[in-house]
Amino acid sequence: MCGIVAYIGERDATPIIIEGLKKLEYRGYDSAGIAVLSDGLIGVRRDAGKIRRLEALVAEQPISGNIGIGHTRWATHGAPSQQNAHPHLSANGRVVVVHNGIVENYLTLREELSAEGVEFRSETDTETIAHLIEKFYAVEKDLFRAVQKTLQRLKGAHGLVVMSADEPDRLIAARLGNAGGVAIGVGEGEMFIASDVPAIVEHTRNMVFLESGQIAIIRKDHFQVENLAGKAVTPKLQTIPWDPVSAEKGNYRHFMQKEIHEQVRALSDTLIGRVDFDNYRIKLDGLNLDEQTAMSIQKIFITACGTAAHAGMVGKILLERIARIPVEVLVASEFRYADPIVGENDVVLAISQSGETADTLAAMEEGRKKGALLWSIVNAIGSQAMRQADGCISMQAGPEIGVASTKAFTAPLMDLYMLAVYLADVRGLLSRSRRIELVKDLLKIPSLVEKALEREPEVALIAEKFKDVKGALYLGRGINMPIAYEGALKLKEISYIHAEGYPAGEMKHGPIALVDKELPVVVIATKDDWYDKMISQVEQAKARGGKVIAVATEGDELIPTLADEIMWVPKTPWLLSPVVDVIPLQIFAYHIATALGLDVDQPRNLAKSVTVE
Ligand code: G6P
Repeated sequence: MCGIVAYIGERDATPIIIEGLKKLEYRGYDSAGIAVLSDGLIGVRRDAGKIRRLEALVAEQPISGNIGIGHTRWATHGAPSQQNAHPHLSANGRVVVVHNGIVENYLTLREELSAEGVEFRSETDTETIAHLIEKFYAVEKDLFRAVQKTLQRLKGAHGLVVMSADEPDRLIAARLGNAGGVAIGVGEGEMFIASDVPAIVEHTRNMVFLESGQIAIIRKDHFQVENLAGKAVTPKLQTIPWDPVSAEKGNYRHFMQKEIHEQVRALSDTLIGRVDFDNYRIKLDGLNLDEQTAMSIQKIFITACGTAAHAGMVGKILLERIARIPVEVLVASEFRYADPIVGENDVVLAISQSGETADTLAAMEEGRKKGALLWSIVNAIGSQAMRQADGCISMQAGPEIGVASTKAFTAPLMDLYMLAVYLADVRGLLSRSRRIELVKDLLKIPSLVEKALEREPEVALIAEKFKDVKGALYLGRGINMPIAYEGALKLKEISYIHAEGYPAGEMKHGPIALVDKELPVVVIATKDDWYDKMISQVEQAKARGGKVIAVATEGDELIPTLADEIMWVPKTPWLLSPVVDVIPLQIFAYHIATALGLDVDQPRNLAKSVTVE
C-alpha cells in the first residue's frame, strides 16, 4: 500500500527520492518521509500529510547526500502522524528503514525488545524492524547479515530498504511474500530502488525485480542478490518499455481524466501483436498455451478485486458465450475461504492492474496449491501476478496513476474477449466467418470509444446538475450488469456519494423502495437484447417519480421521451458494448467529483495498490 523510493550514486538523493515519491503518492498518501546519509550521520525529515508537506519541510530544513531512502505511507498500524511516518530509525540512530507490509508478530517482538530496554518512539510495526537490525548488527557487524537475521524473525509479507551510517556505501533491499514489489533500477554509476516502476523509470529502464525471499546489497556500481538461506541468485535484468512522459499529467487536470482519454490508445495498443490482421486470428503468445492443454480446460475461475473483479464478471459472459467454457467469478479476498472445487484441468485467471494486490496473489497461490493452471491479465510489468502465472496477457495500458481505475478496466475487457475468441478458435468452435466477424468487431472498438469520449462536455453538464445528490442507483442487465456495478463504484470511490449497482431486474425486489425524486437512477439501456426490459425499468422508476439518467445508443428515438437525461454512446457490437458503455459513467463520476472540489486522483482512505490482506 505504501510507496518506497531509494537512491545511491553520485547525485543528491533528496530531489530524486522526492520526485519519485510524488509518482507513488497514489499508493498511499497520509504521511511521507525521507532519510539521507551525509558525513556519517542519518538525517530524517518526515511528517503527516502529502508529499507537498514533506517538500516544504525539506525546503525549510534541507538535507542532502548521495544515498537515501524515502516512503509514502498508507496507515495500517498507528494513525497518520509525524512520529508514525517512515523512515524509522533504530535506537542509536545508525540504522534506518522504510517498509511496506505488516509485521504480523510485531506485538511479540515489541515486548521482547522492550524487555531488553528498547524505547519505542512510534506505534508502528516497522519500528521493530529497525531495532532488530541494530541488535543483530551489534553481533554480526555486517548490515546484510543483520537484515537477513531480522527477516528470519518477521512474520507476514514485507518489502523493505535499509540504510546504515556504519556502511555508507550500500543499501539493503528485501522482499518477503506479497507486500508489493521491490524493483532495482540499474543506472550508470547509480542505482535506484522503488516499490513501483513509475517512480524511477525516468532514470533507467533496466530493472531487476526481487522475488519473495530475496535480499540485495546495492552499491552505486553493482548489486548482488541472495536468498534467505544465503545462496547467491542471478537476477534477470528486464527492460521496461514504458515511456516516462506517459506517467505525467500533460494538459489534463487530473491523471484520472488523462487516463480516461488514453483509453483509445491503450485499447489500440492492446490489439498490437495479438491480432493477426491478415487472417483475422488472435494470438496470445504470453499464455504459453499448447493445443492439447487448451482442449483439456474444463473450467475457468476468474479472481480479482474491485474494478478488476467487475472486468472478470464481463469476462465470464464472454468466455461462456464465445468459448463455451464454464466460468466462475470469485472475489479474490473470498477465494481461499470459499475452498473452491478447483482441479488440474481448471484455470485460475487473476486480473489485476498492479499485479501486487495481496488478496489476488493469495488467490493465485491457492489456485496453484490446488493444481490449477495459473493465468493472469496484468498491467504492471514485472509484477508478482505476472511472474507467478504460467501464462500472462499483459494489458498494455501503460502506467495508471489515478486511484480509480479506468483504462485498466477497459483493457482487460478487450483481453478477455481476445482470450475467448482464441480459446474458441483453438477448440474448434468458430466457423471462419464467425471468427472474422468477432475479430472485425474488436477492431472497431478504439474508434467507438473515441466517439463516446467526444461527448465529455455533455456528460459534464449532466454531472453539474446532479453533483449534490445524496445517493444513486445504477442498473444494468446481462453483459452490462457489471457495468452498473462499475459505474456505481467509480462514483462512490471519488465523489463519496453512496451508489449501488444492481441487476436491473432486481430493482423491483428491494431498491425500488428507495426511488423518489431525490434519487437518480442511472440505467444502461443501450440497444441490445435486453433493451425492451431496460425500458420497462425506466418506466417503473419514472412511475415512482425517479430521475432517470440513461446511457443510450445514438439514434434511439424512444429513450428521450422517457429519461430525464441521456448519455449517448455509439452503436457497438453487444459483446463489446461494456467497453464503450462504461465511458460516460467514468466521465460522469469524474465530473461530479471535480465539481465537488474533491481530490480525484487520491480519494480519501483508498490506495492504488492494496498490498495488505
Ligand atoms: C484497490 C483500488 C481499486 C482496484 C483494486 C484492485 O482497491 O483502489 O481501484 O480496483 O485495488 O487492484 P488491482 O491492482 O489488483 O487491479
